[in-house]
Amino acid sequence: MTLSANTATGAGSNTDEIVVSGGRKYKRLERPVLEYTNEIARETAPLYQKVKHHIPEIEWPVYAPYVHAINKLKKERNASILAHNYQTPEIYHCVADIAGDSLQLAMEATRVETDVIVQCGVHFMAETSKLLNPQKTVLIPDMRAGCSLADSITGEDVRLLREANPGVPIVTYVNTSADVKAESDICCTSSNAVQVVESFGTETVLLIPDEYLAQNVAKQTKVKILTWKGHCEVHERFTAEELLAYKEADPAIQIIAHPECPTEVTGVADFTGSTKGMIDYALGQKPGAKVLLVTECSMASNIQEQAPGVEFIKPCNLCPHMKRITLPKILDALLEMKEEVVVDPLMAEKARHAVERMVNLKN
Ligand code: 13P
Ligand code: SF4
Repeated sequence: MTLSANTATGAGSNTDEIVVSGGRKYKRLERPVLEYTNEIARETAPLYQKVKHHIPEIEWPVYAPYVHAINKLKKERNASILAHNYQTPEIYHCVADIAGDSLQLAMEATRVETDVIVQCGVHFMAETSKLLNPQKTVLIPDMRAGCSLADSITGEDVRLLREANPGVPIVTYVNTSADVKAESDICCTSSNAVQVVESFGTETVLLIPDEYLAQNVAKQTKVKILTWKGHCEVHERFTAEELLAYKEADPAIQIIAHPECPTEVTGVADFTGSTKGMIDYALGQKPGAKVLLVTECSMASNIQEQAPGVEFIKPCNLCPHMKRITLPKILDALLEMKEEVVVDPLMAEKARHAVERMVNLKN
């Protein structure tokens, strides 16, 4: 995987300044002292209430100084933090300005008013924010936060697919690089894939690169779906067998799955949807309900506060890429204005067209 970055060293410039792409300059700031003072304890107390079920009280003095420093720095840098639903509770509840699924994050990226966006998620999400905000500075706290789906396909692969399937519209999942988006007709997310596929009115559509998402979409539409053999390394690990064992132990359990899971898994689920769809479904359950979330571990932790009466059962597969994002790295990102996501302008223009076409699709 080749990830584009401008490490914003400011080399050759005034050492009091950090220079990012477009020549924008930021003041070099002093590293805050990360001490758990009485003032920080008082100011962060309401935030601790949101994460108290996941962070033991004895550990909060380690988290709180970071949370406090990040929230202060956000104002100084005129920055917004966009976080995916798979981020850890201390990021999701304590420092994020906006949290959501891929579609929500892409939509919100078009509305952000600050100069700087810090994307707490994986690289393709930061790249999508940059595509939609070419004038803004977009930072990702760890450039290595990739995605097995994005890594499964290149722009050259898409060009060859187009040659082999003349006239067939190409829909690419948003979990792809800008290079791949640039070669496609439109993007989709797990929230809108069926709608996007049907928007062409054609008999056949290529929906790439997630084979399982494509198969799950094919179950919901008459459009013939051609696909690619990319998989999410987190969702492909779930099996119908393990889920049926939970159901056998307690038939009242509601199984809700992400469409990146194999069809044998979604076939035994009571509901399948994007991370936002899963959250809405879970929050709609009555107190006392038991919900098994077939997705990344952090999501159940993040929504537990909003559904105190629901018992979440977590078969729990971690996304190692999402977990690269941590509070210390977010602090460094804001302090040092790194690592900046940059996209070649010609490629960006084509890729932006595919993303904007999706964002502008009417419901
Ligand atoms: P959502 O769009 O459903 O949030 O999914 C993104 C993702 O990476 C799931 O693995
Ligand atoms: Fe990619 Fe899967 Fe991680 Fe989502 S959960 S970022 S699809 S590897």
